[in-house]
Amino acid sequence: MKIACSILSIVEGNIENKKEKVDAFNLTDCDYLHLDIMDGKFVETKTLPDLEMLDLVKGIEKPFDIHIMVEDIGRYIEIYQTLHPQYLTFHWEATDHPVLWIQALKKAKIGVGISIKPETPVSVLLPYLEELDLVLVMSVEPGKGGQSFLESSISKIEELKELRDQNGYHYQIEVDGGINADTIHQVRGADIVVSGSFVTNRENYQTQIDLLRK
Ligand code: DX5
Ligand code: ZN
Repeated sequence: MKIACSILSIVEGNIENKKEKVDAFNLTDCDYLHLDIMDGKFVETKTLPDLEMLDLVKGIEKPFDIHIMVEDIGRYIEIYQTLHPQYLTFHWEATDHPVLWIQALKKAKIGVGISIKPETPVSVLLPYLEELDLVLVMSVEPGKGGQSFLESSISKIEELKELRDQNGYHYQIEVDGGINADTIHQVRGADIVVSGSFVTNRENYQTQIDLLRK
């Protein structure tokens, strides 16, 4: 199982040394840097202005796993493809034309991800699964870090595994929200687990990551 560390709580926090805190991930064995981007429309929160965000993460040496919680998907693909992410994930609920964005990401040679909110069933993704590199199952309502894990995600992970096995699909299954050393045991079936506040609320990120891997 791979671990993607979310820096959302650092980005949103009222602290001065954000860059230092973000760069400290280079000294850990986390597999991806999970970058949450929010527009204040699809979700209430709005993250930093884009140039500030790009500047904040420019020293990161980990592959990026970018999660855009936005309405204007094309605009954000345009901006964040400059980080050459391994995956860029948009929300199924945010668009009437997933195929358009799947094609745009493929053209940019970026791994294609689609995310579903806690109340959205896996079945909405059936027409697209063959094309996806990643399915991101939200285990909290998107919008902020530090929320409690929602168990609706557990059966979705199993369903996605079954669909992948039956059809020979290749996507990675990722789960995001409320993951800590206790809840991680419920999502062991996922390929990638996102953890934010559990890791960044402590001084030593690696100790926290080790607790997740145990
Ligand atoms: C929520 C974000 C998550 C979140 C994870 O909208 O997509 O990535 O930051 O943070 P924790 O682990 O604190 O729930
Ligand atoms: Zn996220």
